[in-house]
Amino acid sequence: MKIKFYPIFFSSVVLHVVLSEVFAIASAQPRTTELFTKSWYFNLGDVQDGQNPSLDDLHWRLIDLPHDWSIEGKFNRNNPAGIGGGALPGGIGWYRKTFTLSELSENKLTFIQFDGIYRNSEVWINGHYLGKRPHGYSSFQYELTPYLKYGKDKNVLAVRVDNSQQPNSRWYSGSGIYRNVWLTTTEKVFVDHWGTFVSTPEVSEQLAQVSVKTTIRNSSNKDQQVVLTTSLQDKNGKSVASAKSRAIVPKNSSYQINQNLTVENPQLWSVDTPYLYKAVSKVENSSRVSDRYITTFGIRAFRFDVDKGFFLNGKPIKILGVCNHHDLGCLGAAINTRALQRQLEILKEMGCNGIRTSHNPPAPELLDLCDQMGFIVMDEAFDVWMKQKTKYDYHLDFAEWHKRDLGDMILRDRNHPSIFIWSIGNEVSEQWDHKDSLGMVITKELTGIIKSLDTTRPVTSNCNDWSPDNPLVTSGALDLIGISYDHNEYNLSPVKYPGKKMIGSETTSAIETRGHYDMPSDSIRRWPTSGRSAVPFGNPDNTVSAYDNISVPWGGTHEEVWEKIKRYDFMSGMYIWTGFDYLGEPTPYGWPSRSSYFGIVDLAGFPKDAYFMYQSEWTNKPVLHIFPHWNWIKGQMIDIWAYTNCDSVELLLNGKSIGIRRKTSDTFHLMWRLKYEPGIVKAIGWRERDVFSEEIKTAGPPVKIVIEPDRKVISADGRDLSFITIKILDDKGTMVPTADNLINFKISGEGKIVGVDNGCETDLDPFKTDFRKAFNGMALVVIQSTDKAGKIKLEATSDGLKGSEILIETKTGTR
Ligand code: GAL
Repeated sequence: MKIKFYPIFFSSVVLHVVLSEVFAIASAQPRTTELFTKSWYFNLGDVQDGQNPSLDDLHWRLIDLPHDWSIEGKFNRNNPAGIGGGALPGGIGWYRKTFTLSELSENKLTFIQFDGIYRNSEVWINGHYLGKRPHGYSSFQYELTPYLKYGKDKNVLAVRVDNSQQPNSRWYSGSGIYRNVWLTTTEKVFVDHWGTFVSTPEVSEQLAQVSVKTTIRNSSNKDQQVVLTTSLQDKNGKSVASAKSRAIVPKNSSYQINQNLTVENPQLWSVDTPYLYKAVSKVENSSRVSDRYITTFGIRAFRFDVDKGFFLNGKPIKILGVCNHHDLGCLGAAINTRALQRQLEILKEMGCNGIRTSHNPPAPELLDLCDQMGFIVMDEAFDVWMKQKTKYDYHLDFAEWHKRDLGDMILRDRNHPSIFIWSIGNEVSEQWDHKDSLGMVITKELTGIIKSLDTTRPVTSNCNDWSPDNPLVTSGALDLIGISYDHNEYNLSPVKYPGKKMIGSETTSAIETRGHYDMPSDSIRRWPTSGRSAVPFGNPDNTVSAYDNISVPWGGTHEEVWEKIKRYDFMSGMYIWTGFDYLGEPTPYGWPSRSSYFGIVDLAGFPKDAYFMYQSEWTNKPVLHIFPHWNWIKGQMIDIWAYTNCDSVELLLNGKSIGIRRKTSDTFHLMWRLKYEPGIVKAIGWRERDVFSEEIKTAGPPVKIVIEPDRKVISADGRDLSFITIKILDDKGTMVPTADNLINFKISGEGKIVGVDNGCETDLDPFKTDFRKAFNGMALVVIQSTDKAGKIKLEATSDGLKGSEILIETKTGTR
């Protein structure tokens, strides 16, 4: 272990001293942070004097947070959020929590942190107003200390959430305290909220310089001498570097201590090996430990190059990312770590290495997972600035709140090694006013706010005004030009933006319904049928063919856009619109569609076929995926596509060869057109010396249900989930690709059903129930553990089908 001592320089009030003293540890737990999500009372609707501690709330609904009340509602086209907002209800809700605090906390400070409340939250403790926060995606904290009672006396925390002014979002927002809540107690001398900033100014395989800036707050009434020891620990908890500094922090103020440490032979963070270190900050004051604070960080170097794109740790890699909204399908906006992890696992398996948090700061858990799993994140602040997109959106709050909201996002997120790009906006309307200086002024201001807090990452804004006169670009403040769509113009960017670094910050916008196929498949279709559109499309049941041949006119199909990103080295990468389907924005259709068609993966988490195109291009694992299904009308001409990274593929129908197709570096799918006859379509693929095969079979009528959980053992923590896929099979075990049987679920034991889905964009049945129709052969049921270890039994039945059941085990300490 190496200990280095660095001098630190203070203003005239504070002296600097370099120390090697050892201080006694006085308290085992100077800081406690606990999830504060259990047993809240919730009332949907406004309540007169809802903050009053003596109000009787026992008849309110008892819930655990995170909670989204909109997802519990009924789809209705007349809900004020509109179809674009997901056609679910908004409104006003109150949350209250009554709690006691140990007398041991009496000399401590107590804070409440909200990771996100949608929206217009106001918070009271014991009747005292703590403040409001209009933005629905910001994290914030209030200090409770002056208003608290200790011992047997009860405290009442009350939160009013107002999502009644609608529409305020172009996508489904959810409503309520939809992210986690934390209660923290500290001593009076402690590391401030979001009080560390760890960066790695110099990185090589031999050595890394690690800069740690720590803000110590002294909330006492006298100046305090503190000793800060920062120890950098590897993933086994072994200290690899440490530094000790002394400072005097004046009363009722804070002070920043800067330390520089050296790590020899560092393990570098990358998308394949996302190695994480911890910076453990120990604050000693009056010979006792007054705080111990942990910051997770990674050691990595990166750069964007004008000609060659993105480099991570010296190696060129393309950012192969997706944009996602924050909803978790049938779980709504209510955050759940396992649900996020599952989404990221599905994307990682596809070869995806990037996430854009469109168009708002994400849940902190998403960033933790991206750190752990290796994703390159573009962290985005806003969808609008001063100019509105919907009547009641953030443009109403921008003037008063943007400094605070943006600054808080940077302070909260800047230690995440997964974040490589800050985005100050998405397609903001200020771009289009070339003569008006507003766009330029705001771009400079927002970029300035970021640079005052973090200069280690480039700032971009996702621009769909391609003109070099776009005031966001002419401001000169953006480090990276973020291009939204228009892939056919990528080749012009070195001319339009000479010397600029480029990223496809939003690309593609193909639309597809999982498992639905329209013939023929070889003409590109656009919606709407105008301008660059080719063949019109549209089905009375609001389906969109899952061949990758339909997109919005401003974007392109998956293949069209990937071909361009792959071709141009100067495009550092792409974030596809979108990884997952999301609630709201069901372009191209209106009612009864209520969720999007843009995802590579549907709302239930079932991959659409395009998923395998990316997998064949973005991974080295052998991919041979053929589609569509094989249940058609006899004699119908059917197009078979294969996504593969085999060199060549032969297709056989009932044992008869239909032909061999060869793959080149710019063919992204192979195709055969054949006359349908029932039976078996088999593909045989050759890759160097290896042979792979894949079959699709004609299914008979539905006979039985099969249950496939993603995990059979989950944690008994009241939060963990098992995502259970339901398939409808024929008597030989082939999935019936058109089955839409209604499935009923019965659950018993230590779990409950928290959502059901099937990925169908037009299904108006509620998500929070115990039945679901299959859609194109599949459905999903999500079950959650209680906090007791035991077994959960799930039964799935359907009229006329052989039912099925499964046991899921819940164990303590498995996560
Ligand atoms: C973009 C926008 C996204 C989404 C997408 C649909 O212009 O940034 O939020 O609306 O279009 O294609």
